[in-house]
Amino acid sequence: MTTTQDLAKQAAGRAAAQLCRDGMRLGLGSGSTSHAFVRALAERVADGLDVVGVPTSTATRDLALSLGIRLTDLDTDPRLDLAVDGADELDPHGDMIKGGGAALLREKIIARAAERTVILTDESKLVPQLGRFPLPIEVLPFGWASTTRLVAELLRGHGYEFPDPARRLKDGELVVTDSGNHLLDIGLTAIRDAATLALELNQIPGVVENGLFIQVADAVVVGRPDGSSELR
Ligand code: 5RP
Repeated sequence: MTTTQDLAKQAAGRAAAQLCRDGMRLGLGSGSTSHAFVRALAERVADGLDVVGVPTSTATRDLALSLGIRLTDLDTDPRLDLAVDGADELDPHGDMIKGGGAALLREKIIARAAERTVILTDESKLVPQLGRFPLPIEVLPFGWASTTRLVAELLRGHGYEFPDPARRLKDGELVVTDSGNHLLDIGLTAIRDAATLALELNQIPGVVENGLFIQVADAVVVGRPDGSSELR
């Protein structure tokens, strides 16, 4: 069944596809909203739009290939014109939590490689303050328990009383990212100084990347269930 949120995601995806121009090298995000964009992009490609994409996950790679979108990689094309991705939460500054789809590492690399990053969302993900969505942190499997302890210690130092990082499971199985790592998810409720926290988390050996995307979004497309969208 198609939900109103699905309709909003599709509207955002269609609007983002209209931002693509001939010759562009695109970052292709992960998650259902990004996949709505990939589908809309594929329609434009079928109509003759000439672009190449770098996927942020194997799921997006498989989808793009199945729809006839040409792919490249960052070794061949280290600079991208436009990255389009989704988010789990977006605050009024455009800062985000990402990684609900386990692709945050490649998503951050690809967003940073792009001249411009456009984030697709629906109203439900716009929040006054980040943190209601559990913060994902990608960690190396080696020493993960020790890394988890250090992450919890850092968070306690930031005034979060009972941080309880949990390794992500799906259907009872440990989630392994496309880069072979594990994910911690941490419910923080309200993140106070996200920029500082993002930097400090990445100082911990064993932390590969965290899901705080600070000053990454250049523009945001908010899709609505009635099919309209707004570029902010
Ligand atoms: C994946 C992500 C996604 O962009 C995020 O989880 C949003 O997903 P969806 O569009 O399915 O709501 O960060 O790592």
